[in-house]
Amino acid sequence: MIQDVKRGTWGSRTGFILAASGSAVGLGNIWGFPTQVGQGGGAAFVIVYLVCVFFVCFPILVAELALGRRTRSSPVGAFSSLSPGSSWWLVGALGVLTGAGILSFYCVIAGWTIAYIGFASTSSFANDPQSVGNFFQTFTNDGLTSMFLALLVLSITAGILLGGVRSGIERVTKALMPSLLLLLVVLAIRAFTLPGSGAGLAYYLRPDFAMLTSIDVFNAALGQAFFSLSLGMGTMITYGSYLRKTDGIASCAAWVVLIDTTIALLAGLIIFPAGFSIPGFDPGSSGPGLIFEVLPRLFATIPGGRLFGSAFFLLLTMAALTSTISLLEVPVSHLVDALQWTRRKAVGIVTFFVFALSIPSALGNGYIDLLTNVPGLNDNFLNLMATVWNNFALPIGGLLIAIFVGWIWTPRQALDELTAHNASFPLPGLWSILIRWICPAAILSIIIASLYGILL
Ligand code: PHE
Repeated sequence: MIQDVKRGTWGSRTGFILAASGSAVGLGNIWGFPTQVGQGGGAAFVIVYLVCVFFVCFPILVAELALGRRTRSSPVGAFSSLSPGSSWWLVGALGVLTGAGILSFYCVIAGWTIAYIGFASTSSFANDPQSVGNFFQTFTNDGLTSMFLALLVLSITAGILLGGVRSGIERVTKALMPSLLLLLVVLAIRAFTLPGSGAGLAYYLRPDFAMLTSIDVFNAALGQAFFSLSLGMGTMITYGSYLRKTDGIASCAAWVVLIDTTIALLAGLIIFPAGFSIPGFDPGSSGPGLIFEVLPRLFATIPGGRLFGSAFFLLLTMAALTSTISLLEVPVSHLVDALQWTRRKAVGIVTFFVFALSIPSALGNGYIDLLTNVPGLNDNFLNLMATVWNNFALPIGGLLIAIFVGWIWTPRQALDELTAHNASFPLPGLWSILIRWICPAAILSIIIASLYGILL
């Protein structure tokens, strides 16, 4: 409560929606979603993803925003102020660690995106399908460059964060969302008109439920939904803490989900038609390189493709930065609140720590064998990090948040906050059931089943 005075608030409701969707929209939508759809077998994965978004993540997003606004505090403080003397603050602490963990691999991919702004502008390599894939391999093999680019991403993020809440985040996102949306629509239209694109559309939109044989697909969809909505680690608690009492939480949350999901679905509408227009394309085999291999070939088919390509990777970089800001904000605001560190000190120390943690992800794409093929896992370090943090840490964080709000803080108290100032909150009874029963049961069964699969 003390923070009430110090803490900034968003300039307006639109400012909040833009900033929260700035956090949500990022590599998760444009890089992560198509990659997961490709590995999860297409349209059936998309359906499981949408079910997770609406029935599990949306209620938890509402809960996180309510927690943040009620306590006006960062995640650790939010739990300890509503349940003093208990161990619930550990959920906030898990979020702080998860923020650093996600950022450590996210900054590597964001670094590749920055490099592709330049590559796309001289896109001679994109004319030959074979060489685009090779180009990506050769580029990411060079671990030192990846490391340098990751450091660049972290430094820019730290710089923006030191600019403060309103000026830093709102300004960037206001211009970003509409431009990104427009460019994605243009690219989707181009992708539809490529020869062979029909097979891509069918793969993406016509579900084959036989693909849903493994629990891993459900786990991946759940993790992707949490990751894409910046949920389960307290980002939205932190963002909610800057929300004004007069802004309706339900409608703010609905907007964020709508924007985030639209952009992810649009990204798929580009990648799969464009991918299937390439002879011999296999959506499952590219892994994290999917967008870096498919998109340059798409740009090569467009008049002015170099310009489009650079603009696209520039917008993607900006979208990634509005997400990295929010990832770094969680540990930083915790250290500022809990240890009374100055913002500058907290930003400096966390950035350094995250950079150190990012090194194995940067060097694990061919540069160092042990990190490229982690023994016993048949995967590289970056994918390992993504699995641990996205598929397990975030859903477990979300599970604990649902249990906390459903059973400790109680839906009645939460609804007080959600309907403050007569804000409308449709279907409060349904939300209570979802947060108390459905969300915990769904997350718990998926997590247990996949852990069982992994340990077996
Ligand atoms: N939602 C972001 C994206 O899709 C990533 C993110 C995850 C940001 C968790 C904050 C917290 O790119």
